Amino acid sequence: GTIHVVNGPNLNLLGTREPAIYGRTTLADIEAMCRAACERHGISLVFGQSNHEGEMVEMIHRASGSLGVVLNAAAYTHTSVALADAIKAVGVTAIEVHLSNVFAREAFRHHSYISSVARGVICGFGAQGYRFAIDALAESRATTAA
Ligand code: DQA
Repeated sequence: GTIHVVNGPNLNLLGTREPAIYGRTTLADIEAMCRAACERHGISLVFGQSNHEGEMVEMIHRASGSLGVVLNAAAYTHTSVALADAIKAVGVTAIEVHLSNVFAREAFRHHSYISSVARGVICGFGAQGYRFAIDALAESRATTAA
């Protein structure tokens, strides 16, 4: 099986972007962590990032039929009906991830268009959240196969 990790706008700048909030971990570090987690489970990984909403829609389309999508939609979390519709359209399992605890931040970050179509939400655990999401997808695969 394959897991797709989809990252949204400005996450390419992790490491130097607002380090007080997002830490010094780069997106390449997160990719390496995700790759190690998938290897442990014997799962293939497709890891991507885009600053463009439509490209993210297409990344979700390409995840159709996979084990699931780990989605950090970044600011599009709070604005995008299109990303939520894409998840519904392909019927893929999605886990919403945020590095920061969005509920401890500005009120506009408290609403997510993704949450209602997601299997679950992980936020506030930094890069580890991606690993938790991969472990969850891998374990639910084992459950449904049994
Ligand atoms: C984020 C939280 C969003 O509110 C913000 O717009 C981001 C990153 C996070 O990972 O904490 O760009 O998704």
